[in-house]
Amino acid sequence: MEKNGQISRRLVLLPCPFQGHINPMLQLGTILHSKGFSITIAHTEFNSPNPSNHPNFKFLPIPDGLSVQEISSGDILSLIQRLNVNCKLHLQECLSQIVTGGQQDDIACVIYDELMFFVETVANFLKLPSIILRTTSAATLIARTTLAQLKLEGLVSLEDSVSQGPVPNHHPLRFKDLPFPISRKLESFSQLVIDMYKIKTSSSAIIWNTMDCLELSSLARIQQQYQVPNLPIGPLHKFGPGLPNSSLLKEDASCMAWLEKQTKNSVIYVSLGSIAAMDEREIVEMAWGLANSQQRFLWVFRPDSIRGSKNEVLSLIFKETIGERGCIVNWAPQKEVLAHSAVGGFLSHCGWNSTLESICEGIPMICKPCFGDQRVNARYVSHIWRVGLELENELDRGEIEKAIRRLMAGKEGEAMREKAKNLKEKVELCLKEGGSSNNSLNKLVEMIMSF
Ligand code: UDX
Repeated sequence: MEKNGQISRRLVLLPCPFQGHINPMLQLGTILHSKGFSITIAHTEFNSPNPSNHPNFKFLPIPDGLSVQEISSGDILSLIQRLNVNCKLHLQECLSQIVTGGQQDDIACVIYDELMFFVETVANFLKLPSIILRTTSAATLIARTTLAQLKLEGLVSLEDSVSQGPVPNHHPLRFKDLPFPISRKLESFSQLVIDMYKIKTSSSAIIWNTMDCLELSSLARIQQQYQVPNLPIGPLHKFGPGLPNSSLLKEDASCMAWLEKQTKNSVIYVSLGSIAAMDEREIVEMAWGLANSQQRFLWVFRPDSIRGSKNEVLSLIFKETIGERGCIVNWAPQKEVLAHSAVGGFLSHCGWNSTLESICEGIPMICKPCFGDQRVNARYVSHIWRVGLELENELDRGEIEKAIRRLMAGKEGEAMREKAKNLKEKVELCLKEGGSSNNSLNKLVEMIMSF
């Protein structure tokens, strides 16, 4: 878009308001700001980012109409559906004020999280170019559309979410690796997949937080279906320097001081991301699995990660047993933790950000997926990239102990660490000048400049 001979260079970015989605969108904003664009973050009131952490961005709050009950229900699918309905008119009004306001830095383009698909309609209405950001792996798109299709044909039900049987034509996925949603509502899930992945998008491009060296064949398969370019420019958090802190919870930096006292590769870092929760039994199993492994550990234990009873589960006996061998925090500066030389393994739920962050630091993983895309990512980590092993069954202290020993103390763990280092080097090449992610980023910038 050109106005009075001046190229418009303001980008409006609209993240989906969950930690695993806010992070990549704000990282993308920082990268595009470094390329000379002005950035406005349009955001919901729910889980709004802290503007003081991002002095270079403007912020545009959008009323979201979510009730306290809806927010506390934990039903993410419903929340996303509500946001797609509730925010549409508000966003349209806010953006049309900017568009008709005749400001010099008019809007060049709107970039939105794939889950916030209402933005496409708003952008069309205002005749603004738009671009989608996909914050998951490419393999996840394929697995989600497969699950939705199987559901449509009546070939899958919730019982299959524990089946070891292979999904035909979808190596390496078993039925239990398909991205069954946390809400277990397969119909709503299928509708979301249809809305989110429509082939005939009027958006101009699709940005991916992934890279060719990890997902070339999945990306190629997806590109065949879409007419617009798919641009893998990941890992977004490594395009720094100066990437933002977009944590919704306060980081406890004391764990960094604790890490400083530990020897190289001696610590297993444990985190299940920002949403997954465990019941009291699972927490007790995790705690004793960690304690009995005799390895040092850093465990992120979010205040809301206990389902059901809120008794003092990490009892005094456990804390006395582990002494200085373990460190437990509510929320950690995860990227710094994974980059610390003392960390030698990551027991993770395999959210896509955590998976990328681990791969980027060459850290092998123990995968404990909980729901959705985490299942797909865990399977790729353990069976395609082979930089981790998966805890397959219900959480059990004996299995956790064994897995930690295998990863941290055994020959198998050493081999995985070596593989993880190699993969890290491949990712670094993607980011360098001439590398695939760097090339895709240049294409993206050229495209936006051409609007
Ligand atoms: C959610 C879904 O669970 C995940 O499957 C999907 O891929 C994205 O949305 P989440 O559970 O938050 O994500 O996991 P993840 O994608 O790993 O994102 C968590 C982010 O929080 C990471 O960037 C991680 O670095 C950060 N984090 C986590 C911290 O900064 N500190 C912590 O203590 C834990």
